[in-house]
Amino acid sequence: MSARKIIIDTDPGQDDAVAILLALASPDELDLLGITCVAGNVPLPLTSKNARIVCEAAGKTDVPVYAGSKAPLARPLITAEHVHGQTGLDGPKLWEPQMPLAGGHGVDFIIDTLRNHAPGSVTLCALGPLTNIAAAFNTAPDIIDRVQEIVMMGGAYFEVGNITPAAEFNIYVDPEAAEIVFRSGATITMMPLDVTHKVLATKPRVEAIRALDSRLGYFTAEMLDFFERFDVEKYGSEGGPLHDPCVIAWLLQPALFSGRHVNVEIETSSALTLGMTVADWWGVTDRKPNALFIGDADADGFFKLLTERLARL
Ligand code: BDR
Ligand code: CA
Repeated sequence: MSARKIIIDTDPGQDDAVAILLALASPDELDLLGITCVAGNVPLPLTSKNARIVCEAAGKTDVPVYAGSKAPLARPLITAEHVHGQTGLDGPKLWEPQMPLAGGHGVDFIIDTLRNHAPGSVTLCALGPLTNIAAAFNTAPDIIDRVQEIVMMGGAYFEVGNITPAAEFNIYVDPEAAEIVFRSGATITMMPLDVTHKVLATKPRVEAIRALDSRLGYFTAEMLDFFERFDVEKYGSEGGPLHDPCVIAWLLQPALFSGRHVNVEIETSSALTLGMTVADWWGVTDRKPNALFIGDADADGFFKLLTERLARL
């Protein structure tokens, strides 16, 4: 079978970085057409710099990296340096990337790529606020039917919120964009906090990555050393949750995950619950399912896959 064509839309972020590395390490299964950056964890100049650092760390500098939207569709940007550090990628020693940004806007790249490939042959992997994807759908509604699937990290139901008591960060930053995507009719698989909080980079799991004894292994372990601080302190958990890599792991080994097709609506107006993903998990409404909501994962299987793939870089 030929490799599945994907675009990664991202705001790196240590967990975004691990997701990108997992994709770059899996060329037999995933054909990464390009990376589009969005403002989120840190402002756009940093996310688009970090994505190139990650490609260089993996020695894969032929993937085009585009800068996309610098602010949410209708709101000022909210960032998460308190989680990811001032650079967004705190932990390892960083460098000025040599790789240039690809010319053009990330949103145009998404539109052109979907128009230039056969309908149903390109998957969008969304690891940050959904601004770029919603902007592409707004500008070129013809591309919506051409999307194979959107696999995204965002939202929560039983876990509720991480940035507010009710909302997960990616959706909270740009709820209007999330609403456009969830109402678009595109096929959506979502990795909410309900599953990502079960995929923890515990000490032994990080040590297994460090024990690869490669430049990339140390780079990844150092990112995860930094990343775990926040969640360990906040939740008392045993390590940082690898939110975004769940998106890529789903494409590689869907059997690691389980979930339900449910209706998900986005709260865009309440001051109290802005950005909440209202998931009809129990089927108590007649609203049509619009997303596969993943609720559980085989975390050991996930880390086995991740470590084995990182060893290839
Ligand atoms: C999401 O927000 C960001 O901080 C992470 O990179 C992830 O995409 C988790 O809520
Ligand atoms: Ca992210």
